[in-house]
Amino acid sequence: MAPSLLKHCILLGFLLVPNVSSQSYDRPITDPTERVNHALYGLGQWYNTSTGIWETAGWWNSANILTMIGDFAQIDPDDAHLQKVARRIFANAVRKSPRKNPDPTRELPSTNSSAQSRSATPPYRKSVDPRTFQPHSHLPAHWFDHESTRQDTDNTAALLSDSQFDESTLLKDFTPNPYDWLDGYYDDDLWWALAWITAYDATQHPTYLHLAEGIFSAVSSTWGTNCSDGGVYWNYNRTYVNAITNTLFFSTAAHLANRSGNTANYLDWAQRSLTWFLGSGMLNKNDTINDGLDVNCANNNGEVWSYNQGVILGGLGELHVALGATDSTLLPLATRIAKAAINRLADEHGIIHDVCEERNSCGGDGTQFKGIFMRNAAKLYKHTGDEELSSQLEVISQSIWDKARKNKVFGNNWAGPRPGDGVTEGPNASVQGSALDGLVAGVRVGHRR
Ligand SMILES: *[C@@H]1O[C@H](CO)[C@@H](O)[C@H](O)[C@H]1NC(C)=O
Ligand SMILES: *[C@@H]1O[C@H](CO)[C@@H](O)[C@H](O)[C@H]1NC(C)=O
Ligand SMILES: *[C@@H]1O[C@H](CO)[C@@H](O)[C@H](O)[C@H]1NC(C)=O
Ligand SMILES: *[C@@H]1O[C@H](CO)[C@@H](O)[C@H](O)[C@H]1NC(C)=O
Ligand SMILES: *[C@@H]1O[C@H](CO)[C@@H](O)[C@H](O)[C@H]1NC(C)=O
Ligand SMILES: *[C@@H]1O[C@H](CO)[C@@H](O)[C@H](O)[C@H]1NC(C)=O
Ligand SMILES: *[C@@H]1O[C@H](CO)[C@@H](O)[C@H](O)[C@H]1NC(C)=O
Repeated sequence: MAPSLLKHCILLGFLLVPNVSSQSYDRPITDPTERVNHALYGLGQWYNTSTGIWETAGWWNSANILTMIGDFAQIDPDDAHLQKVARRIFANAVRKSPRKNPDPTRELPSTNSSAQSRSATPPYRKSVDPRTFQPHSHLPAHWFDHESTRQDTDNTAALLSDSQFDESTLLKDFTPNPYDWLDGYYDDDLWWALAWITAYDATQHPTYLHLAEGIFSAVSSTWGTNCSDGGVYWNYNRTYVNAITNTLFFSTAAHLANRSGNTANYLDWAQRSLTWFLGSGMLNKNDTINDGLDVNCANNNGEVWSYNQGVILGGLGELHVALGATDSTLLPLATRIAKAAINRLADEHGIIHDVCEERNSCGGDGTQFKGIFMRNAAKLYKHTGDEELSSQLEVISQSIWDKARKNKVFGNNWAGPRPGDGVTEGPNASVQGSALDGLVAGVRVGHRR
């Protein structure tokens, strides 16, 4: 071969090969549902079949990942593969995950003698930054010891191939104990209640609904803070009154009102907790929600975190439905909060951020927040059909895919950079689950068109 021809071939090869491989490995995906499936495959690398939750994600984070999966399963009921995986993921978690509860005896009723063995030094603790109230979970030693990080495996595949994970096998004669899911932090408890409500919605299995009711009942027994005699505290120490726990309490009650046979009881809790919350001062004049209340029960001016703006939206939508659309104030209130949040949190391109991104200090907790906002804002859109909101959510969802993704994994800054360069947090299961919530929101708002 003449040297010039050889050079020509090498040049051609150089031009062609990367093109072909990049197309087959990472071909452009434009369908929002396919994007979610691609990202779910990436999430699968962290799934642990023997614990039913995700390595590298914290305890309450795993409840949120389950919720995301249940949401997606409901949007795409015709995908038989997805339905089967989702059912097995829920059943496996309900059986296996209590072993990962970081402080399983903390909330046992004091009449239970084994409650005496509660350790004086809590094995699990959450602290908050005194200025911003950013939470940080401190999980027990060895909680994160078993990281599976083979990017090219989807560990949820094992659920399909092995009959021990069959839903009917796992749930046969099984009654979950709500106390297995309580860890002394009432917000964590309620994240799990919402996860089981979503599992019920996706599978119609009453086991999950009863579990959610049991968790709610335990938390509702703590009702009544020093602030206007209502609300719930953040945790068993009964000191901090914050927005997340109280909006979760409201949202769980509102969800249960339209699902349980005991509608009147849950409607009462939903309305009582909403009235208390709106009177508490945590929702400020800008229609954004600060983190909590100070010792004098005044708004503590804590940071406007995205998840605090999100959870209430889902609750307001559910209460609207449970009341048969007779209360015309609920959806407008939710819409104001959703838009004020985007206004406050979005950059000039419309992409939302939490302030911890600036210093890469969101950690396992803060990296979960934005997905929670997206999930709830997209559900609000289902009730209102507000096209301004859906466009805003679509822009964010698109940016997650275009700017924050590297193959199947995502970074925490949804305007970029991509994960793995040390400039953004991730990849790990918290970051991935949150990005997935954003992508699922994209599917949800797209479907209305
Ligand atoms: C007390 O707690 C233990 C540990 O969770 C549990 O196995 C047992 O059933 C409880 N007993 C009662 C009477 O609730
Ligand atoms: C609760 O208070 C005790 C005593 O002040 C403290 O040791 C413990 O760390 C606190 N626990 C939590 C979860 O805040
Ligand atoms: C799954 O969890 C179990 C129990 O904690 C642990 O022994 C195992 O190493 C974990 N597997 C992976 C792949 O992380
Ligand atoms: C709440 O009120 C009780 C009784 O008045 C008091 O002992 C306690 O310190 C108060 N707690 C807080 C968090 O202010
Ligand atoms: C409302 O927003 C303005 C402008 O961003 C800000 O200066 C002010 O502190 C906010 N007020 C409250 C109560 O958060
Ligand atoms: C849920 O709400 C709808 C609309 O108000 C109502 O028709 C339905 O009966 C409710 N379901 C339950 C279980 O409360
Ligand atoms: C997930 O992402 C970031 C690191 O990029 C980190 O702050 C967070 O703690 C990680 N979570 C876990 C469990 O490693």
